[in-house]
Amino acid sequence: MADALRALNLDRADALALDAADPLAAYAKRFVVDDPGLIYVDGNSLGRRPVATAGALQGVADDWAARLVGGWEDWISWPTRLGDQLGSALLGAAPGETLVCDSVTVNLYKLAGAVLARRSGVVVCDAEEFPTDRYVVDALGRQVVHSAPRAEALRAACADREVALAVFSLVDYRSGALADMAAVSAAAHELGALVLWDLSHAVGSVEIDLRGGGADLAVGCTYKYVNGGPGAPAFLWVRTGLIDRLVSPVPGWFGAADQFDMGPAYVPAAGIERFLAGTPPIVALAAVAPGVALLNEAGMPAVAAKGRALTGLAIALHDRWLAPLGFTLATPRDPWARGAHVALRHAEAWRICRALIERARVVPDFRRPDVVRLGFPALTTSFADVFDAFARLRDLVAAGEHERVDAAPRRVT
Ligand SMILES: Cc1ncc(COP(=O)(O)O)c(C=O)c1O
Repeated sequence: MADALRALNLDRADALALDAADPLAAYAKRFVVDDPGLIYVDGNSLGRRPVATAGALQGVADDWAARLVGGWEDWISWPTRLGDQLGSALLGAAPGETLVCDSVTVNLYKLAGAVLARRSGVVVCDAEEFPTDRYVVDALGRQVVHSAPRAEALRAACADREVALAVFSLVDYRSGALADMAAVSAAAHELGALVLWDLSHAVGSVEIDLRGGGADLAVGCTYKYVNGGPGAPAFLWVRTGLIDRLVSPVPGWFGAADQFDMGPAYVPAAGIERFLAGTPPIVALAAVAPGVALLNEAGMPAVAAKGRALTGLAIALHDRWLAPLGFTLATPRDPWARGAHVALRHAEAWRICRALIERARVVPDFRRPDVVRLGFPALTTSFADVFDAFARLRDLVAAGEHERVDAAPRRVT
């Protein structure tokens, strides 16, 4: 694909030719596009809505009406059933290793807290890590050592220390850099540590092999590249063999050995269900299934390959059009070392993002201090979308349009 891009003139006809040859092009019709004039390249805080989601939500509403409390006979197993589907389609997981439940923040707390209850030593985390991960790690009461998610950095940061746990993102939320899971996990194990991966920007965008990659634990969200909807429940994963050695620090009744025994003390369930806490959000779980099914049908090798190609086109267009306008690329150029979003740095990034939304009908997002973040989910983004978004961005900045928007900060960026 990189070679194919180099051979192109990078005009719009090239983008259309890439779309014509795209084996995943037909998947765009399986998602709702309310406004065809809007280019949605949010990077990525919320994926588009699958067409099938409406039926899934209606189905659970009908079930609720018809079956009332009897519906729980079936609903009670949704976190594990959906977990198995998501785990096998997107994570390289074995059955019984994945749950869909709670938020990433809560799942991280549960898994990291369970590890630290059994192990002494420091916790390692990237100083640039997504805030919620840093806050949770800081709150666990251990000394925190900072390291980038690279094997040599980890070894250097932790030489001569006892290390309990390393927590890293597989795809960096800001730059889009993709860590080498196998190398980093092996380095963590050499140090005697377990490793927990945050897959929020990786799941549904890159191929993940948690078992082959030597991971011990993982968490991630389903509202980005898995299209589960706003506030969709997250997932957690623990490798077989480790599960029954850990106990959740949130000992809820859904994770108890005999939930309806209502016994005096908490006894954890056997298996991954011990990491459930309270009542699962059944309506929200219903909305996660369609995105998982679509990615499973398309296949992650094809999805990830298209992600590399879309980001490759974006980087080529950045180099040609945007670098002369004061942008710099913060995303790795190696297609195998990035996820499905690109980060463009510019001193006026905030106003550029606002102007794109208000004046150019392009939706990116902004990440402090100076990043315009553009995401390209493979099932919902065409090569023409990338071309047109970059053309509008180029024209807007060249004309100084961003200087005419209100620079006031907003709650959501
Ligand atoms: C890398 C990463 N981790 C964690 C989170 C937060 O997840 P949640 O809001 O489900 O706790 C996000 C949200 O965007 C994220 O990007």
